[in-house]
Amino acid sequence: MSAEIKRLDSNKVHILKRLAGIIWFRIGLFAPEFLETILRDLWEVTRLSNELRGKFSVKVRVRRERVWKDMLNSIENQNNILILEFGVADGYATSWWLKQLSCSSDSRYFGFDTFKGLETNWRKLESGTFNKNGLPPDLKLPKNWKFVIGDVRQEFDDKFMKNLDFDGVRIFMFDLDLAEPSKYVFDKIINRLRKNDILYFDELKDESEFQLLIELMRVRKCNLISTTFTNAAFRIL
Ligand SMILES: C[S@@+](CC[C@H](N)C(=O)[O-])C[C@H]1O[C@@H](n2cnc3c(N)ncnc32)[C@H](O)[C@@H]1O
Repeated sequence: MSAEIKRLDSNKVHILKRLAGIIWFRIGLFAPEFLETILRDLWEVTRLSNELRGKFSVKVRVRRERVWKDMLNSIENQNNILILEFGVADGYATSWWLKQLSCSSDSRYFGFDTFKGLETNWRKLESGTFNKNGLPPDLKLPKNWKFVIGDVRQEFDDKFMKNLDFDGVRIFMFDLDLAEPSKYVFDKIINRLRKNDILYFDELKDESEFQLLIELMRVRKCNLISTTFTNAAFRIL
């Protein structure tokens, strides 16, 4: 009996040793980057939670799709939604919203992208990342859903603003990654925001998007609908 237990124990030890070996190997392989990312994320998450602590209390989601679902569930009339997505790439988010709203005939969508990818390096991504050779994703869009192809700083202009005259809930999704075009869009909408608009920031852990949120909170009262550690959605009050 005791020999049996010993054998089991030594099996367990062996398995644990192998696991530890694999973990060490992986950490060893990615060590510098891995540590830097963890430290940076910890710092950013702490900063984010310090800013938001006391102002909001919501459950932190693990996946951004849960944030999107929370956004959707927070809207009373889901038949009357306008989505403006800034940064579409291969249309992952577009497809998600399309699936959720496919029965809603009155929903509208504009997806802005050059489809040529990032024009400069951003964090660890090199310029050209997300390049789709100028072509939007091959999605069957309903009649009021459109991709706007080109630089958002040209396409999201004063003429376009009439499309914001919409009596339902308007969702502004920031996912351009780069600071300059994101700030351009933000400046364009900030004075046009109204009660119940929803703003979603995909890269809130990035300094530039975080600054947009701070700026937003300075001029408008808003509440946090839902968040992960990197993205979050806010409703204008
Ligand atoms: C992170 S991706 C978007 C991902 C997408 N929202 C999703 O969740 O699947 C960022 C996109 O922003 C686009 N982009 C960056 N700067 C832009 C600009 N000035 N005008 C238009 N599109 C831009 C890039 O081409 C890229 O496809």
